Amino acid sequence: MFLSKTSVALKSAAFSAVKLNAARSITTATPSITQAFSAQKNAKGNYEVTLIPGDGMCIGPEISASVKRIFSAAKVPIEWEEVDVTPVIKDGKTAIPDDAIESVRKNTVALKGPLATPIGKGHVSLNLTLRRTFNLYANVRPCRSIVGYKTPYENVNTVLIRENTEGEYSGIEHEVIDGVVQSIKLITKDASERCARYAFTYAQQVGRDRVTAVHKANIMKLADGLFLDVCKQVAKEFPSIKFNDVLLDRACLHITQDPNIYADTVMVMPNLYGDILSDMCAGLIGGLGLTPSGNIGRDASIFEAVHGTAPDIAGLDKANPTALLLSGIMMLRHMRLYSQADAIEKAVLTTIAEGKTLTGDLGGHSTNTQYTDAVIKKLTA
Ligand SMILES: NC(=O)c1ccc[n+]([C@@H]2O[C@H](COP(=O)([O-])OP(=O)(O)OC[C@H]3O[C@@H](n4cnc5c(N)ncnc54)[C@H](O)[C@@H]3O)[C@@H](O)[C@H]2O)c1
Repeated sequence: MFLSKTSVALKSAAFSAVKLNAARSITTATPSITQAFSAQKNAKGNYEVTLIPGDGMCIGPEISASVKRIFSAAKVPIEWEEVDVTPVIKDGKTAIPDDAIESVRKNTVALKGPLATPIGKGHVSLNLTLRRTFNLYANVRPCRSIVGYKTPYENVNTVLIRENTEGEYSGIEHEVIDGVVQSIKLITKDASERCARYAFTYAQQVGRDRVTAVHKANIMKLADGLFLDVCKQVAKEFPSIKFNDVLLDRACLHITQDPNIYADTVMVMPNLYGDILSDMCAGLIGGLGLTPSGNIGRDASIFEAVHGTAPDIAGLDKANPTALLLSGIMMLRHMRLYSQADAIEKAVLTTIAEGKTLTGDLGGHSTNTQYTDAVIKKLTA
């Protein structure tokens, strides 16, 4: 009796999640579902962009301040709208303050510092809430070797797109009986399709001629099988882009043996695989302090560093702002502000290549402020 009640509850939870995903779907018959930036400049000739610096014991405010200084030195036509996302209690649950939600909805683009995710029962991850609120369906994570920071690997140039709204992160978990828990990996055709289509569109945009689906369809025949089938279907809409697929374990082996194998492709995969594989790729180029990401969505796009809040160095002026800066550069390209993006990228990369003003995580002794000053000097030289 107990088990059948549980299975009814499970079915109902999974069904609600499917309904939610269907409501979020932006799948269309046409290939152009990419959420192109379409905001207008304000009366002062600037775009308004939401800035979420970060919460609590967090390096977010320090690295956000660095980005603001560098963007201002590069004369980027942006007015920051800074919002606080310290959770509020709404209907007995933790929620993001309405002002913050409104700002992102209005501006359709945001740069975000890291947010802490409390571990344990009853806490909803703010990052997950943001993804669901704005239908941030595809997480783009490029990893490129940085000249001047030597790692065992050279010329790493991977691009990974992670399905961002479901899979293992659907949040459907139950205790069946004491000592037995169940966690549901939800895969839907709609969410897989919009993510796959974005991967092909992105490959076209950045001039890569292949998309590679990463999966475990040999084991999860239904869930990953559906994801893979959808990728194969979407591939037919993009005859100029080649398509192949690879098992997740094989991809990990290949990338650590020779990351160059993936330098011409855009990898696309379900949520958890993307989370893990992108951190592995980050490790190949020198760690989380250097890796940016963009959450592309239906209602907004939010750009953020891959790293977390780094509470161990918060407030000490030791944080490396490069990952958030590179995320900001991805954001500028999304906003089609290419010349400013190129100028800031050149200043950041030449500062690191010179090796004179590096933060501790890159083996240097400089503070965040000194590194930021050095980048600004390059920009204004
Ligand atoms: N997108 C996000 O908001 C996000 C992502 C990951 C983790 N988190 C949250 O962050 C908190 C801390 O997580 P964690 O400790 O596992 O990972 P972390 O990325 O915060 O830190 C891991 C290590 O990397 C270092 N580090 C990270 N970013 C750095 C930077 N920019 N410059 C120099 N060193 C840097 C830290 O000092 C630490 O030693 C957790 O609450 C976690 O949930 C948030």
